[in-house]
Formats: sequence, C-alpha cells, structure tokens
Amino acid sequence: MISRQTAPAEVTLIDEALERYAHEHTTQLAEWMRELEREARSSLPYPQMLSGQVVGRLLELLVHAVGGRNVLEIGTYAGYSALAMAAGLHPEGRVITCEIEPEFAAFARRHIEQSPYSERIEIRVGPALDTIETLSGPFDFVFIDADKTGYPAYYEAVLPKLAPSGLIALDNTLRSGTVLDPGANEAARAIDELNATLARDARVVCTLLTVRDGITLVRRR
Ligand SMILES: C[S@@+](CC[C@H](N)C(=O)[O-])C[C@H]1O[C@@H](n2cnc3c(N)ncnc32)[C@H](O)[C@@H]1O
Repeated sequence: MISRQTAPAEVTLIDEALERYAHEHTTQLAEWMRELEREARSSLPYPQMLSGQVVGRLLELLVHAVGGRNVLEIGTYAGYSALAMAAGLHPEGRVITCEIEPEFAAFARRHIEQSPYSERIEIRVGPALDTIETLSGPFDFVFIDADKTGYPAYYEAVLPKLAPSGLIALDNTLRSGTVLDPGANEAARAIDELNATLARDARVVCTLLTVRDGITLVRRR
C-alpha cells in the first residue's frame, strides 16, 4: 500500500480565493483531462496528489521551453502530469514515467491510451531508482514527484543524466508549509534538508517557486 508520506492533506498554502483566481486565469485543460481528474477524484485514493491545472500548464510550458524530446517523470499516479507534459513535447519527444503502484499505473495507462499522446508516453512500473538505472538520458526535463524521502536519491540519480540545457522540477518542496517545522515528520525533514543542499550545491542553479505546494527548478552550471 502507498506510503503516508506521499499523501499530504489538500494543498492550500496561499489564499484559496487567489488559488481559484490563478486557476481561472490559466489556459483551461482539454475536456478529456478534466474527465481524468473527475474520475481520479471519485475512484482513486489521495486525489490531492493530482498536480492540477496551474502546475500542469507550468510543466507543459517548461517542457516546451526546453524543446523537450526526452522527458522523465518520477511518480505517475493518475497520469495527469505526464499528459500535461506530453502537450509541451517536441514533435519527436517522449515521456517516460515511473510508478510503483500497479493500480495507479493501470488507471494512468487507460487514460493515456484514450488521449492524443498514447504513442508518446511510456509507463515503467517498479521502484523509480531501478528504472532510472536503465536509462542513459540525456534528459531535457525531469519531474520529481514521488515519495518525499526518496527525493535526494532521485536528484543524485538524474543530475548526471541531465542535458546541459535541461531542467529538473521537484514538486512539494514547501511540503504544505512543514519545511518551517522539519521536526514535524520524516518527509518534512527530508525535503528541508534537500532544499538546503540544493541552495548551496555548486553544480547547479536553483529557485524555489512558491507555486501551489512549492516547485523547485534546477539547471546544471
Ligand atoms: C504525488 S503522486 C504523483 C502525482 C503526479 N505526478 C501528478 O502530478 O499527477 C506520487 C506517486 O509516486 C508514486 N511512488 C511512490 N514511491 C515510488 C517509487 N519508489 N517509485 C516509483 N513511484 C513511486 C506513488 O505511488 C504515487 O503515485
């Protein structure tokens, strides 16, 4: 069963009315993406793990900006963010997305097959670190969004395989605000320590965006 650490409460770090305003002033998603979201909310546990329209469009824009051909995602869940990123791919680009839970992978696969991106997204079921080992990169874009205590290992595993102009995005780097109280739980401590490491890592440049639950963007120097 899925670990509690991947399932924080619904994320509301900024004023709810402003969150709604940001949502309303972001390009609306296609109806089939909204249908995926509705079905995930009604049939999957932890629907708060869906990244949502604002983050989805941000990922799409970033993948597009780097001319994404080789995109890696760590943490598929319902396939929402993989599909969002697929919309920004280079015409020859592909997304490989890693998921440990077969139930989530099956849900995502079904929706991906019904989408315009069925040939562009591949789900690899199993522990993400094992999958990353089989991939040589170079990755144009990596989205890290799985178990929070695993982030340091995912970061170290993908950094050497990042293309020179590639980007890594790490989700939930404010961890519902618990990074201010890292003693609160193991995930808060892991994320707080990683945030500190990233900010002084001489190999990279990073910025922690206060979008939704915090998204850190990283490039290699
Ligand atoms: C926050 S959800 C991903 C949400 C998705 N990226 C989105 O925005 O729509 C995290 C996912 O990571 C998966 N996960 C947890 N540990 C994992 C591991 N070691 N390897 C691969 N996936 C893992 C969980 O099962 C869960 O589906």
